[in-house]
Amino acid sequence: MNFKEELKNRRTFAIISHPDAGKTTLTEQLLFRGGAIRETGTVKGRGSNKMASSDWMAIEQQRGISVTSSVLQFDYDGKRINILDTPGHEDFSEDTYRTLMAVDSVVMVVDSAKGIEPQTKKLFEIVSQRGIPIFTFFNKLDRDGRSPLDLVDELESILGIQAYPMNWPVGSGQILQGIYDLRENHLIKFGDKQLDQSIYDEALEEITLLQDAGNEFDKEAIAKGKLTPVFFGSALAGFGIDQFLDNYLKLAPSPKAITDKNDQEILPEDDQFTGFVFKIQANMDPKHRDRIAFVRIVSGEFKHGMDVTLSRNAKKIKLSNVTQFMAEERENINSAVPGDIIGVYDTGNFQIGDTIYAGKKKVEFPDLPTFTPELFNRVIPKDVLKQKSFHKGIEQLVQEGTVQLFKSWRGNEYIIGAVGQLQFEVFSFRMENEYNSTTIFEPIGRKIARWLNPEQADEKMSSTRTMLMKDRYDQPVILFENQYALNWFADKYPDVELIEKL
Ligand code: G4P
Repeated sequence: MNFKEELKNRRTFAIISHPDAGKTTLTEQLLFRGGAIRETGTVKGRGSNKMASSDWMAIEQQRGISVTSSVLQFDYDGKRINILDTPGHEDFSEDTYRTLMAVDSVVMVVDSAKGIEPQTKKLFEIVSQRGIPIFTFFNKLDRDGRSPLDLVDELESILGIQAYPMNWPVGSGQILQGIYDLRENHLIKFGDKQLDQSIYDEALEEITLLQDAGNEFDKEAIAKGKLTPVFFGSALAGFGIDQFLDNYLKLAPSPKAITDKNDQEILPEDDQFTGFVFKIQANMDPKHRDRIAFVRIVSGEFKHGMDVTLSRNAKKIKLSNVTQFMAEERENINSAVPGDIIGVYDTGNFQIGDTIYAGKKKVEFPDLPTFTPELFNRVIPKDVLKQKSFHKGIEQLVQEGTVQLFKSWRGNEYIIGAVGQLQFEVFSFRMENEYNSTTIFEPIGRKIARWLNPEQADEKMSSTRTMLMKDRYDQPVILFENQYALNWFADKYPDVELIEKL
């Protein structure tokens, strides 16, 4: 395949869901179909102590969960598919959000007995800002679920996205007959039982209703993330997966152009290699103190040993130690194309959001968004004599995006903020293991963070319920005790603009 064909056949996506909706099970089914794994039920090593190979850090092994977002790659029907895994546990983190900045589309898995759950909604909102295609998979059809009409309605009422069912369930749970393919107009049967006509008729009635009152199929609206194609199926039973995958591959986009900070449109097929760092992972291999910068390729072809420039400081770097991520192992690679994720061994050059480019034309992709942390801890070093390593550790870990740092308006009080609890654990573990600095946390709980325009910030605004802080770029932020405190503040200072990050 030549470069342009390879590029056209790339599909890079992430699966978002609330924990337990079936993301891992669906991922396994997809990998299985692509021949990347030989059997299902192995990725998490359920029922055994086998760790998934993407469980990199020691902390992950202690907890048996995947903290980091790994990248899984497989081929199916002439396409090369990159799935960027997003940690699905309650304690997901900012890495999950950042990973969503590096994909071209998203699959949203929803438990059909539960409907849209909080984490799905949160992740959806992050993705939806990007205007990329979102595909919905209502999972666990082999169990009694909610009415499919209700579920589809929730997409519109809770998430505000229009829905277009690609198939429709005929029964569910014990009486699941199959799914009706609404594009090809035929029934895909579940199992080989005799069809129950009354259940089938009921489904056909719903389908007529949908066809009369539902949305039109609109490719453009799908491409912009305004209309979500909806699939029903069961990941566990491996049912509805083929139909999902085939349609997904037809509708999901190949890598797209990105406009950089200087209004240059960078096309994937451009000769010049460009990419951006969306995640940095330290100590993936406990034997080596290495860091890996995850780079999403935007244009051109990556070639082993190529020279690139780091846009932020014009530093020249040779890309000679680069890896790609497979389900089973990390391997060194010689080439990769837009849509692919490469892992560049890093000795401390990279920061999240960095652009790298080959050749002479300077390219600088837009900054990655900052996300609003929700959980906070005051942090102090246990050993006051070790201030230096404490500060060095905080500085580096904050730069990597492990946690966000806030300082009191005056004085040196440090507060760290995170999207998920696990970020604190990773922080504290790494401070101890990598910087030899034991930290003490004083939990200050949940807060609502809002940024202010610097000229409007005034120390008088600060109280225990509305803590005025500085972020790591010295921008003013208020940490509000709760919504009530925020409302009170907004009433008292009607002219002060409170800025929310994603
Ligand atoms: P997650 O990654 O989104 O957290 O979910 P995961 O795939 O781990 O699935 C969560 C649970 O839901 C698992 O059960 C899994 O077997 C089950 N599950 C996933 N898809 C389906 C489905 O289509 N139908 C049914 N009935 N169940 C499904 P578990 O009890 O937590 O794990 P296990 O002990 O059964 O392996």
